[in-house]
Amino acid sequence: MKIVMITGSAHRSGTTAALARQFLRGAEEAGHQVYRFDAAYRNVHPCIACEKCRDSGVCVFQDDMRELTLRLLEADAVIFASPIYYYAVSAQLKTVIDRFYASGAALHGRKKTALLLAMADADTAAAEGALTSFREMAKYLEWTMAGTVAAVDCANAAALEGTDYPRQAYDLGKNL
Ligand SMILES: Cc1cc2nc3c(=O)[nH]c(=O)nc-3n(C[C@H](O)[C@H](O)[C@H](O)COP(=O)(O)O)c2cc1C
Repeated sequence: MKIVMITGSAHRSGTTAALARQFLRGAEEAGHQVYRFDAAYRNVHPCIACEKCRDSGVCVFQDDMRELTLRLLEADAVIFASPIYYYAVSAQLKTVIDRFYASGAALHGRKKTALLLAMADADTAAAEGALTSFREMAKYLEWTMAGTVAAVDCANAAALEGTDYPRQAYDLGKNL
């Protein structure tokens, strides 16, 4: 299976990165091919709703989304990994998702998707906003939900130690 993983944290050794790493380990052990796009280190302009893509099929911003879009179009699964920032996914990740708009119907259907989240709050309610928008996006794009991992009470990567979250992320990758 061809997998695209899009991460949304600037912490290269942070909580999100640790969950992403476990997912990748499982996915690669299962023989999947993974292309990883670390949004925090890429050049992706926010969508300005100019609607030019509706006429031309191409976004007015010719940035790193060009490379990602080619991968997205051929992907069998798209995995998102993000810290929770103010009860939502990070702006870096959301900026990438908004740019899906330019691909229109070409992105709809036939893909699996999953979401990995890290947050400091011990209450799972902190993840509800991100989980709800993810579920609705998957429904809209007609992607099949493969699973979610919401690592609560994890303000940093060290806090993952002794929790079940790394295994959950690994299993999600392995059993995708
Ligand atoms: C700007 C900002 C906003 C945050 N907002 C929340 C929040 O609403 N709820 C929460 O539980 N944690 C919040 N956090 C904590 C992070 O989600 C948490 O530290 C996470 O482990 C960071 O992951 P990372 O190391 O992959 O970036 C916030 C952190 C930052 C920097």
